[in-house]
Amino acid sequence: MTADAAVRDALRTALGDAVLAPSEENTQPWRWRLHGEVLDLRADHARRPPAADGRSLGLFLGCGAALAQLRISLAAAGWCARVRHGSDRDEDHPLARVTVSAADGPVDPRLRRWAAAIPTRRTDRRRFSGREVAPDDVELLIEAARPFGGTLHLMIGAARRAVLDAARRADRAQLARDEYAGELQRWTHRLAGARDGNPGAPAPHPRDLRTSAHAILDQYDAAQVFLLAAQADDPVSVVRAGESLGAVLLEAESLRLGVTPFTHALEVAGVRVRLQRLALGAHRLPVVALRVGRPLPHAAPIPATPRRPLEQVLVEEP
Ligand SMILES: Cc1cc2nc3c(=O)[nH]c(=O)nc-3n(C[C@H](O)[C@H](O)[C@H](O)COP(=O)(O)O)c2cc1C
Repeated sequence: MTADAAVRDALRTALGDAVLAPSEENTQPWRWRLHGEVLDLRADHARRPPAADGRSLGLFLGCGAALAQLRISLAAAGWCARVRHGSDRDEDHPLARVTVSAADGPVDPRLRRWAAAIPTRRTDRRRFSGREVAPDDVELLIEAARPFGGTLHLMIGAARRAVLDAARRADRAQLARDEYAGELQRWTHRLAGARDGNPGAPAPHPRDLRTSAHAILDQYDAAQVFLLAAQADDPVSVVRAGESLGAVLLEAESLRLGVTPFTHALEVAGVRVRLQRLALGAHRLPVVALRVGRPLPHAAPIPATPRRPLEQVLVEEP
């Protein structure tokens, strides 16, 4: 195999892992282009839920999580990936331009552990155990965010209550908006055979998809609440925070912790500023909240949500 065929093969294989990443309502809002030995990532704005917040944060977070899984998969396979982030405003500045070369050192065991967690990671919306997440594990989750552009913060006391209040208010306010109900309907009630959305969501009514995880917070289990923060709300900062999200979720999976990510609480007017004041500081923008807990003993494995086939998200050029 020529060198460039080996590189293209490695990128294709890693893409298989990248597209298993989580995304808001499983919209899978990414487009990939492999040209020569270069892989570009762009956001697919057509897959942005119509009622999403005006800044497309969810779209860029999903792209970032996929990019993290690509990088982690490449690293575990012995490749060194270089990533140039961009604004996605034109062809020459995709969200990420990835090039690779053979790595010259051994694989970092943490990256190997994260890569092994990619196929089994799932969003877990169930009730967790009454035993808290161990402090060492909290630290590992916070550390997992660090190599990328986001930071992870444990919410306690007033800050935790503020996140939970906002989640409840967001549930009420958003469900009252027709376009939001329509958006949930669109992504939770896909046609038979659809490879996106949440067709397998256990709840029969879309209301439950968003509310169930929040409704049980604070009441029945010992879930911890975290906020993942970006440096700013521009595409590059949010994609980089999405990479942190991807790494944190893989760390959680490797520690056998369950996680529900949720964003809509942060879309309530004034909440981001309040949380910045209470817990983060002006230079960190909360972009996604995480509910993290220990699955109950003997909890059944969670079925995988579907993914679109690579041919639908990848354009290959010579
Ligand atoms: C940025 C982001 C926001 C999300 N928000 C929610 C949410 O508000 N409620 C929820 O139940 N799941 C949420 N999820 C989880 C997605 O629904 C989930 O990733 C998707 O359905 C794919 O399923 P999987 O994570 O099990 O692979 C979110 C995921 C991401 C990446």
